[in-house]
Amino acid sequence: MIITGASSGIGRELLKIFASNGHFVIAVARRREKLEEIKKEFNEKVEIFCKDMSKLGDIAELYEEIKELNIEVDLLINNAGTGEYGFFYETDMKSHMKTLNLNIKGLTYLTRIFAEDMIKKKQGGIINVASTASFQSGGPLMGVYYASKAYVLSLTEALVEEMEYRGVRIMALCPGPTSTEFKGMSSKRKGMQKFYVTTPRQVAESCYRDYFKGKNICIPGLLNKIIIFITRFIPRKVQRKMVRKIQEKKKRLL
Ligand SMILES: NC(=O)c1ccc[n+]([C@@H]2O[C@H](COP(=O)([O-])OP(=O)(O)OC[C@H]3O[C@@H](n4cnc5c(N)ncnc54)[C@H](OP(=O)(O)O)[C@@H]3O)[C@@H](O)[C@H]2O)c1
Repeated sequence: MIITGASSGIGRELLKIFASNGHFVIAVARRREKLEEIKKEFNEKVEIFCKDMSKLGDIAELYEEIKELNIEVDLLINNAGTGEYGFFYETDMKSHMKTLNLNIKGLTYLTRIFAEDMIKKKQGGIINVASTASFQSGGPLMGVYYASKAYVLSLTEALVEEMEYRGVRIMALCPGPTSTEFKGMSSKRKGMQKFYVTTPRQVAESCYRDYFKGKNICIPGLLNKIIIFITRFIPRKVQRKMVRKIQEKKKRLL
């Protein structure tokens, strides 16, 4: 199996859970030193690939190198993702493009290559990491990120209908705020954050459990599930004003 963005946060916890349950994991990220730490810890259970998943050339290389090693990929977890805070018109254009290239283009390309192989074999699985942001009507101050995660959820749900009846399992993992290196998040949960910020371990455990239960959408944490349920009954105009208030608060903390 492959996990992108396995060098920290949710990806690293997913790697720990899958590797300790006997899965052979191909860990992909850019920071070599982080990947080497992982290799030391998990030895033959893990193979590391230092690649940039926002670059289509790196993705094509990854695919070729895996083929050359004769490794069968039974599960692909598209976890690597990024996002930028700030007003759309003030944020550097380059960081918007980086978000689109990783969260949308890279994810689509990698999914497409492995989907074809899985369909041929009539087996395999794909987990795409979306977000609770995917369900919101818009994400003021993080507009490109929210839109990219809406894309991930939409594509993943389409693939459920196209691929599951042909033997390939598909799931969207939709975490809420999680204590990782992700921008604006702290790796430590302080004060009230203990109630609404999940740990990467909790997210990875929910993902593992729900994938093998056959779920198509995994929302880790009871509070996140309740929020997403209630969101259905809130007018879109109100939703985006609420998100703006939350994001403005975050911006003051950055
Ligand atoms: N934390 C949250 O609150 C939250 C909530 C909902 C969804 N998510 C989603 O969860 C996923 C994981 O995020 P996280 O919170 O665990 O953040 P994180 O700790 O920052 O981890 C991101 C991972 O992605 C890798 N990565 C970033 N850019 C990459 C690139 N161009 N090519 C290859 N790997 C790349 C990073 O490794 P390198 O830097 O070594 O490349 C790192 O391993 C993301 O898709 C994020 O959108 C996070």
